[in-house]
Parts: sequence; C-alpha cells; structure tokens
Amino acid sequence: MPDTADREYIAAIDQGTTSSRCIVFDHDGRVVSVDQKEHEQIFPKPGWVEHDALEIWANVQEVVAGALEKAKITKDQVKAIGITNQRETTLLWDKNTGVPVHHAIVWQDTRTDALCRMLGRNVGQDRFRRQTGLPLSSYFAGPKIRWLLDNVEGLRERAERGELLFGTMDSWVIWNLTGGVNGGVHVTDVTNASRTMLMNLRTLAWDESILASMEVPAAVLPEIRSSSEIYGTAKGGVLDGVPVASALGDQQAALFGQTCYSVGEGKSTYGTGTFLLMNTGTEAINSYAGLVTTVGYRIGDQQPVFALEGSIAVTGALVQWMRDQMGLIKSAAEIETLALSVEDNGGAYFVPAFSGLFAPYWRADARGVIAGLTRYVTKAHLARAVLEATAWQTREIVDAMKKDSGMELTTLKVDGGMTSNNLLMQSISDFLDVPVVRPMVSETTCLGAAYAAGLAVGFWSDVEDLRRNWRRAAEWTPDMDPAERDKEYQFWLKAVQRTMGWLG
Ligand code: G3P
Repeated sequence: MPDTADREYIAAIDQGTTSSRCIVFDHDGRVVSVDQKEHEQIFPKPGWVEHDALEIWANVQEVVAGALEKAKITKDQVKAIGITNQRETTLLWDKNTGVPVHHAIVWQDTRTDALCRMLGRNVGQDRFRRQTGLPLSSYFAGPKIRWLLDNVEGLRERAERGELLFGTMDSWVIWNLTGGVNGGVHVTDVTNASRTMLMNLRTLAWDESILASMEVPAAVLPEIRSSSEIYGTAKGGVLDGVPVASALGDQQAALFGQTCYSVGEGKSTYGTGTFLLMNTGTEAINSYAGLVTTVGYRIGDQQPVFALEGSIAVTGALVQWMRDQMGLIKSAAEIETLALSVEDNGGAYFVPAFSGLFAPYWRADARGVIAGLTRYVTKAHLARAVLEATAWQTREIVDAMKKDSGMELTTLKVDGGMTSNNLLMQSISDFLDVPVVRPMVSETTCLGAAYAAGLAVGFWSDVEDLRRNWRRAAEWTPDMDPAERDKEYQFWLKAVQRTMGWLG
C-alpha cells in the first residue's frame, strides 16, 4: 500500500442487500482500503425478506472504522463521505428514540403484491407509470410504507402525528451519521426518491396525488436533495466533523462510477440480480417497452440526468441456487468450468423466474422453467443454460432500450461479481453483438458515491476529471454467427413464454 500520511481521501459507504462496506479512495480513484460486514437476511414467510436496521447501522459504523484503520489514515485526511445503498428497502423509525418500528422491508419482498394489484384496479397502472416512471410492482418502496402503516398496529396514527420518519437506507445512514436524535438530517437524494413510486419524475418533488392514492402521509417523508451536495457533517464516531456529501442508489452510483456521463452510455452490474442503466440525458424518457424510467444522478443544482433501467431479479442468484439448493456445483466459480466442458446448451434453456419476472415483463405470476429437456442433457448443459440465461436477459433489456430510446448501445460497460466469468462475458458480447468492457476499478458502486461526494467538496473539479480515471481492464468482442444468434434467441423467448401465468 502507498504511504498514506499527509494525503487526502474520500470514504464511500455502500449499504447493500447482503453486506455493508466502506471503501477509501485516493484522488486517482484507486481503492486504498476496504472493510465489509454481512448482515442477517430475515425470511419470516415465503416471499418476505427483512433486515434489522439497527444491526445494519452498527455494521456501518464498524466498517467505517475498519476501512480507516486499514488505510492508516485519520478523519482529517477524509475530505468527504459518500453514501450509496440497496434501493427501495423501506424503513420507518421513531424520530424521538431513533428506534425502527419494524424490520426494514427489503426490495425483494413480495408481500405487497396483492396491494399493487388492488392499486392497479382502483387507480390504474398508467397513472403510476406516467407520474413516477415506474410500473406498479412490489419491488418499489411506496407500497411497502403503505403495508407497514396498514398492518402494524398504531403506526398510521403515529405517522400522522409526525412521530415517525421514513427512509430508504441512504436516509437511515445519513440521519444516524449526522447525529440521529440529536439533530440528524432527514434527507434522501433524487435517485433514491425516484424508486419510492411517490416522487413525480417531472417536478422531482413528492407527488401529492400519488401520496393520496398510496395513503402515505407527507409528514414521514425526507427532504429530496441532489445526489452531490453537503447534507450535513458527521457527528461523533470516527468521522466526526467530515462532510456527508453524496447519496445515490447503488445502481445509479455504478453508472456514475463507470463515468457514463454522455447520452447513450450504459453499464450493467452483475450480482445477485442484474441492473442495466443507460444515460438518456436531461429528459425523462417514458418506457413503453417494460423498462423503468429513473433519475441517473443530479450534481448540485445542475439539471438532473435521467436513465432507463432494466432490472433483472435473478442472475447470480441462479448460480447460488445451483450450488446451494441443487448441489450441482461446489463453488460459484465452478459453473464456468462445468459449462466449458460442453460445446453448447444441448437444447436446454433455463428461465429463472423465481420471484416472477422483472423487466421487461413485470409478471409476478411467472415461475421458473427449464425447457427443451431430452435425455441427452447433462448437468454441464444446464450450467451453460444457467449462464446463457443471464446473457439472454441482458439482450432482452438492451432490445427494450433500443425500442424506448431509439439509441443503439455501442459498448456495454460491466461490473459486479459475475464479470470474473469469462464465458458469461463472451456470451453477453455474442448475444448483444457489441463489445463488453470491464474497468480496472471494479468497485464502481462505491467509486460513484466517492466521485459524487468529491465533486461536492472540490476534491475533483468536474466529470471530465473523473472520466480520466476510467481505465479498461478487459474486453470481449462478439464472435457468433448471426443466424445462430437469432435461432437461439427465438428458443429463449419461447422458453420465457412458458413461465407466464403459472400462478393463474
Ligand atoms: O434495486 C435493488 C438494488 O439496488 C440492490 O442492489 O447490489 O444491494 O443487491 P444490491
């Protein structure tokens, strides 16, 4: 590690779905130190997923201290703190005690499915999409707040009396960092607010008519701020006095960290799920092809930059399922070796609609299928079908992006754990027929939060300054016969159709 004495840094906190991390970055955007801690996944019923927000806050404090210690730096060398987070995960807490009134309801949780269908019938799908950019789905935060207020005794009255605060994990972390019950600031940023289904995408303010339909009292909501400005300073703890200067949902942070600052630039993050975002500029593009319109980022008082997003619920999670539930592989890395032991998928297609299908279908009633089975198929063919499922799902998102925006993606920037899988990256390049590139710094989520915080305090001067830090580590170029690609795609689409309406 380089000598860190007398140098200046930015610390980024990533409060993710499975763990909380803190990464210290230097001025070249290089990782100086990382600390990380997992938290418990709580599954009270099938389809329900919760987190203990107090455990998460304790972990955040621990990893921040750990990262500073590993970097051998003091808080005086940290010029700003940036926040990024799992999006949509919903928390209500008592503003006088700082204690959550219920576990956080995680983005993957499907308990609000019936509520969403009811809202669709009574209020209409289109109204939500028009005003918030989002399809009615249990994925987003608004219905989760409504569920808590309707189902936990006494909460609605307490919310209306102004005793409760709502936040996604950015708000929770910032409120605690800046003092909690002793004057913590209650804010969120436009990117996180754009995932609540309560923010109007044109005004970037809470939408009163949507709040009324969703029956969420305005009193619980945080103030919506830009993604890059000083919200307050840390009070107490190892970062006491350091400005808290950015917040972005994790996928938007990755877009920012991948320096996708021009219209048409996009990135795809391959983790448990996959999220492909494309910068569409300062106008929000309504999606008719099943994507989500979302805020990409907003730097201070500059114009907001919008993005189209294709969210895929299950990608890396399918590899985990092959390992943990099926026992067909011992480690996630083994999927590639197994898949490479055969030439092709042997005619098998695997559509992992484990929790319905997100983009571009938004079908909660879909369930997973393996199609095209014959006695010829081995577990190696299935391994290949597993990897191809991620690549075909990416292709469907890219096709929808073209339909909605009329823009062609010329290169796909990738990041996330699955990008170490060469066969998968090659398949994505083949199926999309575009080059796929991976940067040197693969920690793009934290990097994006660090960049936004650094811009707010003048650590970096502008986005051109950041662009210079992006360096290519690997590239995959298309190498597939077009007729073969089309034939395979048709089989994939046929398999997808078999998943629909499974639950009636
Ligand atoms: O929308 C959900 C997404 O933000 C979760 O990301 O990386 O924490 O699983 P991750």
